[in-house]
Amino acid sequence: AVVSTRPTLLLAWYDRHRRRLPWRAAPGEASDPYRVWLSEIMLQQTTVKAVGPYFEKFVARWPDVTALGRASQDDVLRMWAGLGYYSRARNLHACAVAVTCEHGGVFPDTEDGLRALPGIGPYTAAAIAAIAFDRRTMPVDGNIERVVSRLFAVEEELPQAKPRIQQLAATLLADSRAGDERSRAGDSAQALMDLGASICTPKKPACSLCPLNQDCMARAQGTQETFPRKAPK
Ligand code: ADE
Repeated sequence: AVVSTRPTLLLAWYDRHRRRLPWRAAPGEASDPYRVWLSEIMLQQTTVKAVGPYFEKFVARWPDVTALGRASQDDVLRMWAGLGYYSRARNLHACAVAVTCEHGGVFPDTEDGLRALPGIGPYTAAAIAAIAFDRRTMPVDGNIERVVSRLFAVEEELPQAKPRIQQLAATLLADSRAGDERSRAGDSAQALMDLGASICTPKKPACSLCPLNQDCMARAQGTQETFPRKAPK
């Protein structure tokens, strides 16, 4: 197969332009699965901006998963107040208890293992597996759907297009060397999230700044804003 240059371009862009977010490890440092998990749960229905202060409060009070697992559910709910969707907070606590009591305080490092925990669905399992453990999987959120549907000019409409977009998104993971599935998958995913948030925006995308503009099919056609295609309401 022809090796695509897209993953390399994407990671080079990320190395220069990545957002500094409180849950991201410094370049070259190992990421902390607890911080990755906590941020992904908070980000499920809440913006990056709103999550920031809550994330900082939580890690200051409960610096690791066993500390959170020993906290009372009431204390966790009180600290969560204002973030909304309180079932997330109950699942968050239940998950911390499960990791503490059933996994010796260590997060499972596979998608399947993560999926078995409270509050962790397919998207969140993929996000944690990629970002915390560099598993070769791509969590596809709304930002990544938009980037990928433009890059490949996916004509199929959402939601039916989801499996196709998932498959195309996986081609943006850097090639892994034989026998090694770890290849900056987490950085590749977060690069696409950042690209979608800052450049490949829903309206007026800043294509001239995009590291993938040379082979974006929607840009070649001048149809960027028409993707992703959606079934009419
Ligand atoms: N949204 C969900 N997870 C994210 C992450 N790790 N970085 C930025 N935005 C996100």
